[in-house]
Amino acid sequence: MVHSPTLNVMIGAARKAARALVRDFGEVEQLQVSQKGPADFVTNADLKAEKTLIHELLHARPDYGVIAEESGVKHGADPRHHWIIDPLDGTLNFMHGLPHFAISIGLVRSGEVIAGLVYNPVSDDMYVAEKGQGAYLNSRRIRVSGRRDMTQAMLATGIPYHARPGHDRFLAEMAALMPEVAGIRRLGSAALDLAFVAAGRFDGFWESHLKPWDIAAGILLVREAGGFVTEINGGDKMLESGSVLAGNDHLHGAIAKLLPSSAA
Ligand code: IPD
Ligand code: CA
Ligand code: CA
Repeated sequence: MVHSPTLNVMIGAARKAARALVRDFGEVEQLQVSQKGPADFVTNADLKAEKTLIHELLHARPDYGVIAEESGVKHGADPRHHWIIDPLDGTLNFMHGLPHFAISIGLVRSGEVIAGLVYNPVSDDMYVAEKGQGAYLNSRRIRVSGRRDMTQAMLATGIPYHARPGHDRFLAEMAALMPEVAGIRRLGSAALDLAFVAAGRFDGFWESHLKPWDIAAGILLVREAGGFVTEINGGDKMLESGSVLAGNDHLHGAIAKLLPSSAA
């Protein structure tokens, strides 16, 4: 596959930020860890990776704006374009030495995600998509799964952390889905959960209270891999509400029907 110049910029930025991230992961015990909030650790690695990403992305596209997890919103001279960056999705995994975390970069044009990248630097798995161009894992085209039978489906979700909202809602959702599916996983990186749906590993994924940087790239990956993404209630304001339901074309609707959309 021949990448567009924009995708090449994103890939270059991710690979550069990843080098330090992987080194720091190797020394995870020596990192100075501060606590931004309960279960939401910010590490030196996190901040360093974000700085590298912003530097590289703005070096190539100086006029674009940025929304990044740690440094917030920076308006650019070009009001149509902005990057959405999570330098480290799966911080808790990182902190505990679990090699399942990712850099996530989305590019928004006039409110629409037009390019997305999710990169696991430990496994060196690079998921990329551009609007209308399909989704790729390490240059191989990926598709959502073809599974139609809920009893064979493997879904992923996120369990709300300590001091975050949505615990009762999550329990109601599990109660509804647990008896219907083959299995439910909580791997700890929403960006990779969506990438795994795009790659056909998971048949579906749902979670609430996510942030735009967790999901911007992943939403495009799933769509470009032939899947559906909506809010849990069926709406399309995922980046605003943080509610996401992704699935292949057969199971998305079935999962939506089972999820109690009104649960607290
Ligand atoms: C978290 C991960 C996790 C999800 C949390 C997110 P972070 O992002 O995506 O899977 O359940 O809601 O906050 O904090 O590791 O960047
Ligand atoms: Ca995140
Ligand atoms: Ca993060």
